[in-house]
Amino acid sequence: MNLTKTPHKKQPIGVFDSGIGGLTVANAINRHLPNEEIIYFGDTAHLPYGDKSVDAIRYYCLKIVKFLLERDCKMIVIACNSASSAAYNTLVDFFPGETIFVNVVDPLVAGVVDKGYQKVGIIATKATIRSNVYQRKLREQQPELQVAALATPLLAPMIEEGYFDNRVSQVVIESYLSNEAFEGIEALLLACTHYPLIRMDIAAFFGKGVEVLDSTLFTIGDIKNKLRNRDLLNDGKKNAHQFYVSDYTQSFEETTRLFYNEHLQLDHYPIW
Ligand code: DGL
Repeated sequence: MNLTKTPHKKQPIGVFDSGIGGLTVANAINRHLPNEEIIYFGDTAHLPYGDKSVDAIRYYCLKIVKFLLERDCKMIVIACNSASSAAYNTLVDFFPGETIFVNVVDPLVAGVVDKGYQKVGIIATKATIRSNVYQRKLREQQPELQVAALATPLLAPMIEEGYFDNRVSQVVIESYLSNEAFEGIEALLLACTHYPLIRMDIAAFFGKGVEVLDSTLFTIGDIKNKLRNRDLLNDGKKNAHQFYVSDYTQSFEETTRLFYNEHLQLDHYPIW
């Protein structure tokens, strides 16, 4: 994609999600690209996106991207699988050449295809599974790959309530993953930015035979490549990160610790 404006290295990276799950991606950017400034937007007024229609998700994303572009983001990371599935193409078409878009679907698809599996499973929100985006992109690149996809809508709210690595999460995970469609899978794709927090529970359920993959590290690789190729990696000092939400509650702020490994101060920005 050619950019119409020439960005510079010191501009921030915009990161957004339906809420705070995308902080797993922001945290990985902070760790792997420590010179980059992050402007995060969590659309807590509308979460969960996983239960919304495609049109609603696209509308929300357009407004959030406009907000991030007004803050001069050289790159915008759609740190939500539901939003990446519903709105990535719309955003690229709507804001041609204005920024570099990164979604969380394509890097994971590329990573899976590289591994040459024969059968994989995917778990995600209803919106992501219904969009068929993972299934379609995987089959386009590897037509013989068998893909079993299951919507697991209880998982994101369960994680936000702090239920992981305990008996409740184990029972919920077991009841989803014992679905016979997953028999014989070699890898399970965690296609939701909340799910890295239950990675251990899921790995424990399957044991050694199944690889558990999430998009975080693949997405960081994509971000690095895209910035490096355009000579846009920041090599100087950065400003402090900023974290905005469209609806503020104390509980959202407390939950940031789960996803970012530290308590963050959230600023309320009433975009709606
Ligand atoms: N983080 C979102 C995703 O990756 C899931 C939460 C939601 O449904 O809004 O799809």
